[in-house]
Amino acid sequence: MAKIIVFGNEKGGSGKSTTAIHVAIALCYKDKNVGVIDLDVRQKSMSRFLENRTDFCEKKKTDLPRPTYYKIYQSNKDSKAESNSEEEKRFADALTTLEETCDFLVIDCPGGISNYVKMAHTVADTLVTPMNDSLIDFDLLAKIEASTGKVIGPSIYSEMVWDCRQIRASAKHPPIDWVILRNRISHVFSRNKYQISNSLKNLSKRIGFRLSTGFSERVIFKELFLSGLTLLDLEKMEDWQPTLSHISARQEMRMLLGSLNLTSD
Ligand SMILES: Nc1ncnc2c1ncn2[C@@H]1O[C@H](COP(=O)(O)OP(=O)(O)O)[C@@H](O)[C@H]1O
Ligand SMILES: [Mg+2]
Repeated sequence: MAKIIVFGNEKGGSGKSTTAIHVAIALCYKDKNVGVIDLDVRQKSMSRFLENRTDFCEKKKTDLPRPTYYKIYQSNKDSKAESNSEEEKRFADALTTLEETCDFLVIDCPGGISNYVKMAHTVADTLVTPMNDSLIDFDLLAKIEASTGKVIGPSIYSEMVWDCRQIRASAKHPPIDWVILRNRISHVFSRNKYQISNSLKNLSKRIGFRLSTGFSERVIFKELFLSGLTLLDLEKMEDWQPTLSHISARQEMRMLLGSLNLTSD
């Protein structure tokens, strides 16, 4: 069975696609067969990245490792029940097709909670949730009392993950390894940052996730997208002259991969 890694977060713009892209390509570089499903049928970041990558290879007459891409469509049946059941079938077909050849499946989710998002979270062996390094994004995980900052309960997203965990448990599937990573970490020390760090540690036991090292704020992540490249590709290019920021970014990438425990090396 392929190992399924889902990138999810109720909010858009938190770095799901950026992280999913980097993890998928890193696994390709480890000679793994990787399948990709882009569930964000509106933004299509993962799909666009892979198109850019194909264009880059064609223009430069080079061959970069690429995952197997499975295109999935939203159902537009009249009734919700019919749409849901059509999407369930499409999703199951996607998994069956990719699992024939792939060691890993990377599923990139949109922001928000949809039928596809719930299905993806239910099949996740590893769930990666990037969150922007700000208190505003903290409510993704928990409801917070505004005046005191006290946690008063799980968020809608945490509740959905909980429901998916219950479904897995009743089907006797292994539990989801839920990893939260802080993205776009600024280098400036702030009280806010310190507060987030402490609150996350407290919450992790209560809600059942673990924390991983994240990515700092780096323009390189934006710059590479249009060429369909990742830092790992640059590393292989003879004329690449890395800056200090690139080297640190590469290190952050390696640490993230290590902490996800996806491969034995
Ligand atoms: N660590 C980072 N540093 C700088 N820009 C980033 C970083 N992570 C993501 N971005 C940028 O933020 C935007 C949103 O990221 P994206 O991965 O598309 O989020 P999501 O998939 O959660 O909506 C993109 O323009 C992306 O290039
Ligand atoms: Mg995205």
